[in-house]
Amino acid sequence: MQFTVALDGPAAAGKGTISKALARHFGFAHLDTGLLYRAVGAKGGDPVTAARGLTQADLAREDLRSLEAGAAASRVATIPEVRQALVRFQRDFARRDGGAVLDGRDIGTVICPNAEVKIFVTASPEIRAHRRWLEVGGEEADVLVQVRERDARDMNRADAPLKPAFDAVMLDTTAMSIDDATRIAISLVEAGLRP
Ligand code: DC
Repeated sequence: MQFTVALDGPAAAGKGTISKALARHFGFAHLDTGLLYRAVGAKGGDPVTAARGLTQADLAREDLRSLEAGAAASRVATIPEVRQALVRFQRDFARRDGGAVLDGRDIGTVICPNAEVKIFVTASPEIRAHRRWLEVGGEEADVLVQVRERDARDMNRADAPLKPAFDAVMLDTTAMSIDDATRIAISLVEAGLRP
């Protein structure tokens, strides 16, 4: 069975937690596509060469979760040749047998426009910064600045900007626990699976 769930949205909206829970619940494979851009940014050197030669070892680096790695990812993600180099891998993953959840920024719009279920997870910048700050510590105001910078870069780039697909269901988690958001996402996928 081929079945793709596309989960897009800005940084720290809850995409990672929700997509992992969906994958576990339905037995689907999960791809955090942000990790691909983080690995390209962390590799250094020419980003296009890095994207074309990405290996499993690059994706397994332990320093990919930091705020710096996120900012570097957001910068290399503006380069069309970098994005192009990562398309095939993501599409192959999406159509693997047994179902797949991909989370990112452009899954429903560019990578998998025919995904069976599309969800756009969002939340206010303040609450996203607060959640990220709980994970990374430091000054909460600095985290908010970084969240806003990343939003601006991801939304305003020319190639595959962050935006909801026209047929995506919006899931605003600002005033919602992540458990409630996950329950809603599960019911959306259940509805998509029904014949
Ligand atoms: O989801 P994340 O925070 O790990 O993503 C890091 C950066 O990678 C994000 O700011 C923009 C880029 N990205 C992208 O352009 N397209 C994707 N599908 C996923 C991430």
